[in-house]
Amino acid sequence: MTTASEAISIAEITDPALAATLADLGAATFSQTFGHLYKPEDVGLFLTQHHSTEAYQGLILDKQTAVWLARDQASAAVGYAVAGPCHLPAPDMPDKSGELLRLYVSEAARGAGLGQKLLAHVFEWLEARYDHIYLSVYSQNHGAQRLYKRYGFEKVHDYLFMVGNHADPEFIMKRTRLGSGE
Ligand SMILES: CC(C)(COP(=O)(O)OP(=O)(O)OC[C@H]1O[C@@H](n2cnc3c(N)ncnc32)[C@H](O)[C@@H]1OP(=O)(O)O)[C@@H](O)C(=O)NCCC(=O)NCCS
Repeated sequence: MTTASEAISIAEITDPALAATLADLGAATFSQTFGHLYKPEDVGLFLTQHHSTEAYQGLILDKQTAVWLARDQASAAVGYAVAGPCHLPAPDMPDKSGELLRLYVSEAARGAGLGQKLLAHVFEWLEARYDHIYLSVYSQNHGAQRLYKRYGFEKVHDYLFMVGNHADPEFIMKRTRLGSGE
């Protein structure tokens, strides 16, 4: 039997021509999930800064950063992840620290295992390059925090993440033990 997430293919993206596809997916998944939390002008500013075609071209062409795109059987983009060196403001961050920079699955595809499949690609890539793995997550995003805890992440710091001109309380999490997501 083929499950919904088995029918999905995940590929690391190196072709900047796919930046527009990623920008559409990045803007849609951010807006679906968090758009209601902020003023429209803050969302607009954030999407222009971080989810434009140019922003994704930069991520794809940056040799230190990896971007994965998940597509369904009809080739529609349904999820993506980004990883790279860690630039989070963690005061005691050791050398050789990498970061899960983004992990998003489109609303209709959530809860079927795709997030964990994307994470498997991310962790394989980060583990090959870094000794430590960090991420940041919105303090009220309890579902994602539950997922990360199952992979061995623990909150190590608080920080403020800017969405436009709005400062959001986020948690910096660090992987402190190996976890399989089970
Ligand atoms: C977090 C996310 C990528 C997980 O992808 P997914 O394909 O739904 O995840 P999976 O099916 O592989 O695993 C399900 C687990 O994800 C977590 N999860 C987080 N938000 C969820 C949601 N809205 N629906 C379902 N699961 C969610 C839960 O831990 C869940 O397992 P549990 O309910 O048994 O505890 C996805 O829900 C998403 O895109 N959420 C919005 C964006 C986001 O929060 N990204 C992380 C920012 S740091």
